[in-house]
Amino acid sequence: MMDKIRIVGGKRLKGAIPIAGAKNAALPLMAASLLADAPLTLTNIPHLTDITTMANLLVELGVTLEVGSVGLDECHTGRKLILDGGTVNSTTAPYDIVRKMRASVVVLGPLLARFGKARVSLPGGCAIGTRPIDYHLKALEQMGAEITLSEGYVEAKLPQGQTRLKAADITFPRVSVGATENVMMAATLADGKTILRNAAEEPEITDLARCLIAMGADIEGVGTSTLTILGVERLHAAGYAVMPDRIEAGTYAIAAGMTNGDITLQNVTADIMEATLTVLEAVGMAFEVDKAARSIRCTLRDGMLRPIEVVTAPYPGFATDMQAQLASLLCLANGRSTITEAIFENRFMHIPELQRMGADITEQANHIIIRGPVSFNAAEVMATDLRASGSLVLAALAAEGETIINRVYHLDRGYERLEEKLAMCGAEIERVRE
Ligand code: EPZ
Repeated sequence: MMDKIRIVGGKRLKGAIPIAGAKNAALPLMAASLLADAPLTLTNIPHLTDITTMANLLVELGVTLEVGSVGLDECHTGRKLILDGGTVNSTTAPYDIVRKMRASVVVLGPLLARFGKARVSLPGGCAIGTRPIDYHLKALEQMGAEITLSEGYVEAKLPQGQTRLKAADITFPRVSVGATENVMMAATLADGKTILRNAAEEPEITDLARCLIAMGADIEGVGTSTLTILGVERLHAAGYAVMPDRIEAGTYAIAAGMTNGDITLQNVTADIMEATLTVLEAVGMAFEVDKAARSIRCTLRDGMLRPIEVVTAPYPGFATDMQAQLASLLCLANGRSTITEAIFENRFMHIPELQRMGADITEQANHIIIRGPVSFNAAEVMATDLRASGSLVLAALAAEGETIINRVYHLDRGYERLEEKLAMCGAEIERVRE
């Protein structure tokens, strides 16, 4: 499992890359299957280890899982999963699974709402910050749940004699993607009208809301920061196609920028990527958006990369999940750039590795100063988390010589067939299996 990726950089990338379904949409969508006693059919599911982890968790809870056919071209169609929540027979999400993936906590809201109780392991530490789940728990308490922490588990239940969560008017202290998802799902089965204020507006939240509506939920304000959810008695069977992965797409757009390449992203739309495309345009990239074909062609405008100042923010701002990849690109820009990471406190683990490849970056708390242009040199480096790994792949594609990236399992959590997709564009890249 300790695979490595070997990249010989310096090649101009040219070709088309099919974008997979979004990991961060697919995970909560899969958890939504817990809300109904009928099948939820999801298509465009990416092939990633995080998806397998969620599938394992749902099966552990008793969900009946059927993996549908893959289609002619695996890269294009994604997988189909049929998840039937009618067979759920456990409400405990065990440590063994949750520790592998924090996003597992999104089963809490659905389990509690449908079964009146849930026991979910507290996710442990994380490479990018402390990442507590206090907003999730506070909001569920406001809906009447009794929550205790015991032996590393969150134990949530309804008060004696109560069968449904009750609606509440909830204001999140700060925008949280996971808390919005957890509580929105819980509210679909609650008694009355729940209002979520300062809700996350990420497209993945919208995707989840649309799927819940297809399952019979009553949700208003979709795509805004105030969601109004009128609880219903039960949800029913539905089918839903997962949205494209805007972070995967953004990463390959940057690969084009870093190699003076010409890459056409397929199966993706520009509306979900606006902040990324705006920043990359300011840096010197050009995009040809073909709405009908659902494709975006990415090139450099005039061969020049310009510096920029960027602050990460909740959607529609510049995504923290694109920050590490942007840092790699800015190392090649002509001048001084800055990035401020405003979402997570410790999301610069890629900087020391990029420095080993020749980057000139100064780190001050949640702020980095990048001086460019440098030319990256190849090195043996180590992936630390998913997006940090993405930034190392990008630097390696631009570096002369052979880079070895260790701990590839981080990449496999969120980039489907990364080496195949890049190789299709002429990258010299291979997985070295151990
Ligand atoms: C989601 O994580 C994504 N994960 C992350 O993507 C992404 O970086 C993040 O949103 C921000 O966009 C999934 O969707 C599976 P948050 P999530 O709750 O929901 C603090 C990737 O690379 N907070 O929006 O866990 C928290 O510590 C991953 O694909 C609390 O203090 O993020 C953070 O500083 C990494 N208490 C901020 O809020 C809480 O109860 C935003 O976190 C919840 C969050």
